[in-house]
Amino acid sequence: MIKEKIILPKIGFGTFGNDKYDSQTIADSVLLAIKNGYRLFDCASVYGNEKQIGEVFKSATQAGYCTREDLIITSKVWNDKHDDGEVIASLKKSLTDLGLEYIDIYFLHWPFPNFHDIGCSVDSRSIDSRPFFADEFIKVWRQLEWLKDNGYVREIAMSNMTEAKFEQVLPQCRIMPYAHEMELHPSFNQSQLVKYCRDHGMEILGYCPLGSPNRPTRDTTADDVVDTSIPAIISIAETYSCHPATICINWAVQNGWTPIPFSSNERNIICNLNAQSSPPFTDAEMNAINASDVGCRLVKGHIFLWNGATDWRDLWDMDGKVEEWVQDGESWTIKK
Ligand SMILES: NC(=O)c1ccc[n+]([C@@H]2O[C@H](COP(=O)([O-])OP(=O)(O)OC[C@H]3O[C@@H](n4cnc5c(N)ncnc54)[C@H](OP(=O)(O)O)[C@@H]3O)[C@@H](O)[C@H]2O)c1
Repeated sequence: MIKEKIILPKIGFGTFGNDKYDSQTIADSVLLAIKNGYRLFDCASVYGNEKQIGEVFKSATQAGYCTREDLIITSKVWNDKHDDGEVIASLKKSLTDLGLEYIDIYFLHWPFPNFHDIGCSVDSRSIDSRPFFADEFIKVWRQLEWLKDNGYVREIAMSNMTEAKFEQVLPQCRIMPYAHEMELHPSFNQSQLVKYCRDHGMEILGYCPLGSPNRPTRDTTADDVVDTSIPAIISIAETYSCHPATICINWAVQNGWTPIPFSSNERNIICNLNAQSSPPFTDAEMNAINASDVGCRLVKGHIFLWNGATDWRDLWDMDGKVEEWVQDGESWTIKK
């Protein structure tokens, strides 16, 4: 395994099918992405396609499109594998499926332990879902620390955190997270959390960089903004004679985080990577895009809610603090 510090490329490639793309389509897209120069691939056990993607990594290296060392491959432990020993077992399964000897960056996918059925409705509540507790989170993090200590992964990282949760767990981490993977697109720029992560030495990967235009209907709400339809973004795209998607990616690159767009279409795959060599925006253009932020979180996380939670905002510490929940039979209430 390479010992040097990981330097993230300016743009990576997503691998989540969003209920729209089957595993083989995602794997075929990964091959197109490798051939066209992408080197970072954002995988996860819950995406259910690591086996097919592993076949692609094997054939791409055999064909000489890249070496293993050229690639930065992430994976993530899912919410139903937080118990003692389960993180390590999950990592080993991802290694087998992806056909790798090590993962470059291994993420704790969400800070909540829970289980829900694939395709369940957004208002369903699993009795196995629990709120966030820092002491439980740290027990999971210790397993990730063990993986790094034992050479299974180059770096360990977190995803879908808030500043309030970071404040509770970072002082207890023996190994600090290398990165935070978080939702970032023009209508949701999380500028305060981005600053917090940087101030604490974390790299940033931005997911849904195009506003995930093809996500399932069950994950959309009437007031969600479509980033590629924002007038300021369309107008800047006209100036540069490109698709608004290119503007979203270029904006992310200029902000200095690594966006991880997915596409199944070779023309879009190439266009998205080429965004990194677009001319820089003027200050006025940058300000106009930044002004598109309306706090539009797309991945709200409804299905992770526990019995007793009011709505998805309970996951995100909206008033800046982690509420303390207490269990009351099969339900939960906020401690008074
Ligand atoms: N850590 C987490 O909890 C988390 C959560 C969500 C997502 N993620 C990661 O983030 C990645 C990206 O998110 P995402 O896939 O939901 O959303 P996205 O990358 O914002 O959007 C992908 C969609 O945009 C379309 N698209 C791509 N390039 C385009 C272009 N140039 N012009 C027009 N349309 C374009 C694609 O359709 P075509 O196929 O037609 O191009 C695809 O359906 C995921 O794949 C996953 O790896 C992580």
